[in-house]
Amino acid sequence: MSQYLLAIDQGTTSSRAILFTRDGKIHAQEQQEFPQIYPSSGWVEHDPEAIWLSVRNVCQALLDNNGVTASDIIGVGITNQRETTVVWDRITGEPVYNAIVWQDRRTAGFCQQLKDDGHEPWVTAKTGLLIDPYFSATKLRWILENVEGVRERAERGELAFGTIDTFLLWRLTGGRSFLTDATNASRTMLFNIHSQRWDPELLDLFQVPESLLPEVRDCASDFGTIAEGLPGAGAAIGGIAGDQQAALFGQTCFAEGTAKSTYGTGCFLIMNTGERALASEHRLLTTVGYRLNGRTTYAVEGSIFIAGAAIQWLRDGLRLIEIADECEPLAEQTPVDHGVYLVPAFTGLGAPHWDPKARGALFGLTRDTGIKEIVTAGLQSVCYQTKDLQKAMEDDGMRPVAMRVDGGMVVNNWVLQFLADVLGATVARPEIIETTALGVAYLAGLQAGVYQSLDEIEKLWRCERQFQPTMSKPERDRLYQGWLEAVRRLQ
Ligand code: G3P
Repeated sequence: MSQYLLAIDQGTTSSRAILFTRDGKIHAQEQQEFPQIYPSSGWVEHDPEAIWLSVRNVCQALLDNNGVTASDIIGVGITNQRETTVVWDRITGEPVYNAIVWQDRRTAGFCQQLKDDGHEPWVTAKTGLLIDPYFSATKLRWILENVEGVRERAERGELAFGTIDTFLLWRLTGGRSFLTDATNASRTMLFNIHSQRWDPELLDLFQVPESLLPEVRDCASDFGTIAEGLPGAGAAIGGIAGDQQAALFGQTCFAEGTAKSTYGTGCFLIMNTGERALASEHRLLTTVGYRLNGRTTYAVEGSIFIAGAAIQWLRDGLRLIEIADECEPLAEQTPVDHGVYLVPAFTGLGAPHWDPKARGALFGLTRDTGIKEIVTAGLQSVCYQTKDLQKAMEDDGMRPVAMRVDGGMVVNNWVLQFLADVLGATVARPEIIETTALGVAYLAGLQAGVYQSLDEIEKLWRCERQFQPTMSKPERDRLYQGWLEAVRRLQ
């Protein structure tokens, strides 16, 4: 009898494959990093072949190391770094250029021009997004404009565009499925989140031929089967969602007002707003939370580009620590009001500032500043940025009723206590912090009939620990004012 749901989680710095049991527990997992490519200041690329290889490798290792065959797999889910843009040849499957990663800022000038020309209000009304290099549309246009012969080939219908889910699905099904899901589509800036269709006026604005685009499906759908010769051949792919929406699903934030904050490379705070696509007046995004049986559940999102990546920078860039686990004891030895602020705007600032040209800075250095203050400032920057998002949501009249956290960084108890303190809110950590992968495992399980309803899935969520705020309001306000002052000085 089939026993496992297989989740493929293709993230910004690594690919993972995880086997989940029917009750949402991790049976086994594999992970592999792949190279980041920085061809120029503010540019970030991935080699699509390296991504594909890492996904194949982790799936193969997972099945081999655990004696699992395709017949043991009930269903497969794919979740992915969102917005990252790939264009490939429909016949050969070969990419025409590297994947342009969501963090890449090369189209900042074009975005500014679109804003100056007054396009932002109508683009936002249709897509829920703000004009920024973050989203796929201007990256796709850049490839069409700058890679020789690509526009002509696109016009002739020879090429395909996809976010990473679509590219992987294409490869996994041996080129048979050219599909995406509504959550990934909602991050391209080509998709109308109200009509749930690719929008002709947006295609026109970004000069994108419609033949490039995949068909958009519900998050739980028949996406095809894994092709012969690949690990898990014959298994049905039944779930797809962008990684942040998958985490919302894995955290079972199905009720309006429930929210999750995921700490991976970046940090993404998403709150379920039910059947209403609420427009933010404080520069948050409106996005598709999930779509099931043709019914869309909307969400508001605050996107921060650098969270875990700040710790990676302290480790690999500055070499202040050797492993991320060293951060917690260093922070424990440091008073929270040490006066140093790190603003990690390495790839510009996301919500609520949206400044693609901003760059990072350290403030408040004195002769006695040492490694532990800088490392602590790095951890605190992640919490202050989450506070920026919480504040924007509150100013929009949408205070989350519950805050669930996940992602690699939440193993750090110091961070979660400081987060609860700075937010002035309870923060809940679930037993399974790999909620991104869990979310698409649940979607694949829904499609395969393992679960009959969202209520059934909701009952599987288990809290491991809650962090309560203990800091006084004047202290919280004083620390946060220091952060706002540091951000202000960047501009
Ligand atoms: O929008 C970008 C996001 O999907 C990337 O997520 O987990 O790779 O930082 P992550």
